[in-house]
Amino acid sequence: MSSSKGDNVCFFINGKKVIEENADPETNLLSFLRQRMRLTGTKYGCGGGGCGACTVMVSRYLPTTKTIAHHSANACLLPLCQLHGAAITTVESVGSTKTRIHPVQERIAKAHGSQCGFCTPGMVMSMYTLLRNKPQICLDDITQALAGNLCRCTGYRPIIDGCRTFCQEQESNCCQVNGSATCCRDLEGTPEEPEDEAPKLFNKEEFLPLDPTQELIFPPELILMSEASNPQLLTFRSERMSWVSPATLDQLVELKSRNPKAPLVVGNTNVGPDVKFKGVFHPLVISPTRVPELFQFSQTPDGVWVGAGNSLAQLQALLEKLLPQFPQEKTELIRALIQQLGNVGSQQIRNVASLGGNIMSAYPNSDLNPVLAAGKSRVSVISDGGRREVPLNQDFFVGFGKTSLKPEEILLSVFIPFTTKGELVRAFRHAPRKESAFATVAAGMRVLFSEGSAVVQDMSVYFGGVGPATVAAAKTCSAIVSKPWCEETLSQAYQVLLEELVLPPSAPGAKVEFRRSLTLSFLFKFHLEVLHQLRETNVVTHDVPARIEPLPREIHPSLQEFQHVPQDQSHQDPVGRPIMHRSAISHATGEAVYCDDMPKVDGELFLALVTSSRAHAKITGVDFSQALQIPGVVDVITVADIPGKKVRSQFGYDEELLAENEVSCVGQMICAVVAESRALAKRGARAVRVDYEDLPDPVFTFEEAMGRSSFFEPRRVLERGDVTEAFKTVDRVHSGELRLGGQEHFYMETQSMLVVPVGEERELNVYISSQWPTLVQEVVAETLDIPSNRVTCHVKRIGGAFGGKVTKTSILAGITSVAAWKTNRAVRCVLDRGDDMLITGGRHPLLGKYKVGFMNDGRILAADLQYYILGGNTLDDSLMVMEKMLISMDNVYNIPNLRGRGTACRTNLPSNTAFRGFGVPQALTVVESMLDDVATLLGRPTYEVQEMNFYRGPSTTHYGLEFSPDTLLRCWEDCKVKSDYAARRQAALHFNQQNRWKKRGVAITPIKYGVGYGISVLSQAAALVNIYKDGSVLVTHGGAEMGQGVHTKMQQVASRELHIPASKIYISESSTGAVPNNSLSAASFGTDSNGMAVQNACQILYQRLEPFRQKNPKGPWESWVGAAFFQRVNLSASGFYRGPDLNMDWEKKKGKLYTYFTFGVCCSEVELDCLTGEYRTVRADLVVDIGKSLNPSVDIGQIEGAFMQGMGLFTMEELKYSPLGLLYTRGPSQYKIPAVCDVPLRFNVYLLPDSENPHAIYSSKGIGEPTVFLGSSVFFAIKDAVAAARSESGALGLFSLNSPATPERACLACSSPFTKMVPVSEPGSFQPWALNI
Ligand SMILES: Cc1cc2nc3c(=O)[nH]c(=O)nc-3n(C[C@H](O)[C@H](O)[C@H](O)COP(=O)(O)OP(=O)(O)OC[C@H]3O[C@@H](n4cnc5c(N)ncnc54)[C@H](O)[C@@H]3O)c2cc1C
Ligand code: FES
Ligand code: FES
Repeated sequence: MSSSKGDNVCFFINGKKVIEENADPETNLLSFLRQRMRLTGTKYGCGGGGCGACTVMVSRYLPTTKTIAHHSANACLLPLCQLHGAAITTVESVGSTKTRIHPVQERIAKAHGSQCGFCTPGMVMSMYTLLRNKPQICLDDITQALAGNLCRCTGYRPIIDGCRTFCQEQESNCCQVNGSATCCRDLEGTPEEPEDEAPKLFNKEEFLPLDPTQELIFPPELILMSEASNPQLLTFRSERMSWVSPATLDQLVELKSRNPKAPLVVGNTNVGPDVKFKGVFHPLVISPTRVPELFQFSQTPDGVWVGAGNSLAQLQALLEKLLPQFPQEKTELIRALIQQLGNVGSQQIRNVASLGGNIMSAYPNSDLNPVLAAGKSRVSVISDGGRREVPLNQDFFVGFGKTSLKPEEILLSVFIPFTTKGELVRAFRHAPRKESAFATVAAGMRVLFSEGSAVVQDMSVYFGGVGPATVAAAKTCSAIVSKPWCEETLSQAYQVLLEELVLPPSAPGAKVEFRRSLTLSFLFKFHLEVLHQLRETNVVTHDVPARIEPLPREIHPSLQEFQHVPQDQSHQDPVGRPIMHRSAISHATGEAVYCDDMPKVDGELFLALVTSSRAHAKITGVDFSQALQIPGVVDVITVADIPGKKVRSQFGYDEELLAENEVSCVGQMICAVVAESRALAKRGARAVRVDYEDLPDPVFTFEEAMGRSSFFEPRRVLERGDVTEAFKTVDRVHSGELRLGGQEHFYMETQSMLVVPVGEERELNVYISSQWPTLVQEVVAETLDIPSNRVTCHVKRIGGAFGGKVTKTSILAGITSVAAWKTNRAVRCVLDRGDDMLITGGRHPLLGKYKVGFMNDGRILAADLQYYILGGNTLDDSLMVMEKMLISMDNVYNIPNLRGRGTACRTNLPSNTAFRGFGVPQALTVVESMLDDVATLLGRPTYEVQEMNFYRGPSTTHYGLEFSPDTLLRCWEDCKVKSDYAARRQAALHFNQQNRWKKRGVAITPIKYGVGYGISVLSQAAALVNIYKDGSVLVTHGGAEMGQGVHTKMQQVASRELHIPASKIYISESSTGAVPNNSLSAASFGTDSNGMAVQNACQILYQRLEPFRQKNPKGPWESWVGAAFFQRVNLSASGFYRGPDLNMDWEKKKGKLYTYFTFGVCCSEVELDCLTGEYRTVRADLVVDIGKSLNPSVDIGQIEGAFMQGMGLFTMEELKYSPLGLLYTRGPSQYKIPAVCDVPLRFNVYLLPDSENPHAIYSSKGIGEPTVFLGSSVFFAIKDAVAAARSESGALGLFSLNSPATPERACLACSSPFTKMVPVSEPGSFQPWALNI
């Protein structure tokens, strides 16, 4: 190392030079930007490269080509020390409201692509980088660029629509509603366009043009720096760690030979996550990125050598450039690699992850290694002992993360051979999500035929994902070599493959049967590919079975249909118009302030939690002495420090804020460490030692809870008619059950709060990301034993909530306030994604059992439903969730004898809580499954059974609420027409007859959703409206803005009521100081209640101004306000809404819970690959009755976002727990929410016209939650496709498919010849890797 004092890191951020002396090798760019530079537009979403919220653009000058290269990257994985010589662009310098906004920012915002806005800066940066590199783009470029950017709110459609306005090619705007190109409808226009044209959500004519000349120039100083050769070793040091960057190969070799254990960090996409999530510590890191030999490329007659330091994106570009230079027969391996490279991680990952790093990381499920190995690649390695070449074969990959290279050896370059005539190479992969997901199984397959022959001369097959390392299927290959390529040879090979690649039933990662069947399916797919090649080259002359074409992926323009405002409505009145989210531009520029973006308060501390590692145990000791010894750790907060109430109580059940004597789940909070910085608080928390004595028999599963009667009381029953008697009168009775997994909220902004003691009279300010500021205020006051008037809770905005920022948030606020109280300093708590997922719980898993009695014509006369939900270790909202399930269980069906029983199970898993839909999506899926079964048993299409049992005419629910289903029936009929349901069912049948291995499925699903809490006390709201002397208006109301657009809608309400433009109205925050005693923002009720309160306040004020208006009718507004002020008229008014009396009598089983229902119907169609279970939603049409939409763009955004969240729930999102109750899925790498690749290829939303609702403001309806359930239409469409596949295998009739219908479940349910070959281990004969709850 050069000197004891380290070198400086020199780089640029947004055009400004940064020289970092003593750069800490442990610091990443994200924390540097946010905490040091106060550039908070770049967000933290996961810290592991999996969400894209932290995307920035990195630019470097390349002296060899004298060009500047830009790429997007995840700042959370970029070590600061790696940035020497780089220029970083963050969202702040792309555009700002103070100077000018960039077209990317404008278009995403104005196309309504931002709701909570937390993902928006990341989206902007991915798109911005794309356009910097390629001003002429196509849709494929956009979907690739955004594949690694997650959004939990929008459903992506509006983001894509905004971005595709940059596409140069003329795209057809045809919605193809009628399945033909003659139904084209132009999507552009303005809200004020003529009545005979359909209204549009945005007008692309008004967008700023893209002007590349306006972009920041690359700093000339960095060009000079790169051109001046610097042979010096650079060393960056902190107290704990050194980072060394050699400039020459000799230096590198010497360093590595002296420090063989030090990792070579290039992209940091393997080392970084290991350090962060597994606590790995490296005292020394070597960065080889300045060593030219690692980036070289050379060509030989047999292939190409590629430097190991090249990023995967560079490798991909290089191979793509090579492709046209050679005949096809030479580039078989190259093409297979290009295909596989396109699937590795996201664009941001591929831009930094290196080829050498990928090989050396030796992931068991690496995408590249099986292909490289099958293609007979080799590597050149160097050490102080010299150079050697090593084949990439089964001897190279020796275990998880291990290769046969010696620790001091450096991978210099990789040889990618050309293929020869008669040689074929293919790559295969399957992943839990189509893009930006590690493979479940990956494969590379190569076969060589002697010229003109179908007899196999040589073969190599490698798999990833079926063991701890990349493995060769050598015996399988031997079974094929020297034989002709035909059905018979391959049938024998499948058996050999099964025997050769054995996965134990408890293998890590589970999915054992599925993974084994995938190996067979891939070999079969390869078989077909090769057959076709042989046929095309006339080596075989007989007919060959059809190829399996890839699933469709082109996203078509979508359609959003809504109604014009009345012709006589003033242009200034925004109600009913598609007004952009009021903060969308600030979201897109990164200026919108979220809780953790608030500047540090003087003396601020950070809080990190210590959580239980046991599911059920006595705490025998907590030792935090080690933590307190860490310099910078200030204190440890335990239950003994709580001055007031130590528990939260609900329905007689207590939830401890911090565990005292016993823990009842892994992740339960035990104590908290406060320290001077985040890093120190986390180190302190890791240093706390908790001793436990395990208690027997933890309860995890439904069966365990039922077996031990581990329930929360009361259990509920709701019944109408006489179910028992009715079963005696029906033609047929059928029983079934369905399991539905839970769901993680995955709000993009994790739980965040800042508690600031004011310093006098026990006053505290709490800045928090909470859906219920009043509850936070209450909990903090109770916990500290102070009156509520000393606690002011402020919520500026929330980066997504979905029900997950109510109860646990207030408990976290209680703990954080104790820390602030005890230390008398401001304390911030922002959960890491992993902790957030571990601690806060989510949607309740459900076991639904049903018994149904029906007539041969399809009429259902009796149904007996039993719902068990997993509540977790505390009650939280479980009882209310279970009640809402029973209340909603009739859905749209008039079942005369209907009984539901609900039980919340108490388990030793983290407590589940409210989640958009509040149990309804799970409950109704059971009901729809029941109807589906009835239809299958009767041999009729499901929709006929659905229709036969609809409520019709004046109706009464099973708990006695009267309602009219008229608009529901209109939604149903409209949906059938708009989706062309009948024709598409026929087309799907036809498709299924033509395709053996791919099937299409279509399903149509309705919902009736009661809006509101069904609880009188929560049906109230208040607002405070202040008019200032200059005429500007400040509105504060009880709702919290979490992306649902409630502030935008309130601005619209105030604008209409005060008759002023919305631009004069501002909403700053929600505050318990301004508006006390609010209800929570939930239950799709925020606009209904707060809208009425804002209306009330505005009407009062407008009345007060009446005399001044009369005196001076022409105004302007400011003159009335000024005159009123001089006349001493109060220009501030509070408004109030007292909702209707609501009740439910569980004894009498009668209630009046809602004043209205929101109705909706969705028709979805999927295409399923039966061999892998992969599917694509080819189309979704939703018709929704939301009365008169107050803001069609916001409402359509809610409909689409909820639908996508429901699709995630029902088809992909899976929580996995270890047998000891530890949540495995604690980040986006393990837990997959829908991404851009999951958007339905045609995604149409229609708001039902001519619907009125006298019960909510301006005849609108609540829409936040209902369409989550409509995501289940994708589940039922998959089930329909699976049924088609099963019927080809001779498996007719009923079958069970639990939710989520993941590719694993769908594939196994298809019952293909390959899945049937895989032996199934007897349950109970092994310990599964994950709990089967
Ligand atoms: C979010 C995410 C998604 C991903 N998705 C996929 C995926 O879908 N498919 C897939 O295959 N992979 C995937 N990956 C893995 C990724 O491709 C690898 O982590 C990456 O290629 C490693 O390269 P790196 O330069 O970042 O390695 P680093 O983290 O910098 O280093 C990794 C290891 O390689 C060693 N090393 C690096 N270069 C050399 C060298 N020249 N000689 C000797 N040793 C060396 C280092 O010592 C270190 O031990 C994903 C990773 C992330 C974070
Ligand atoms: S925070 Fe960096 S990718 Fe999620
Ligand atoms: S708007 Fe994308 S996460 Fe909220």
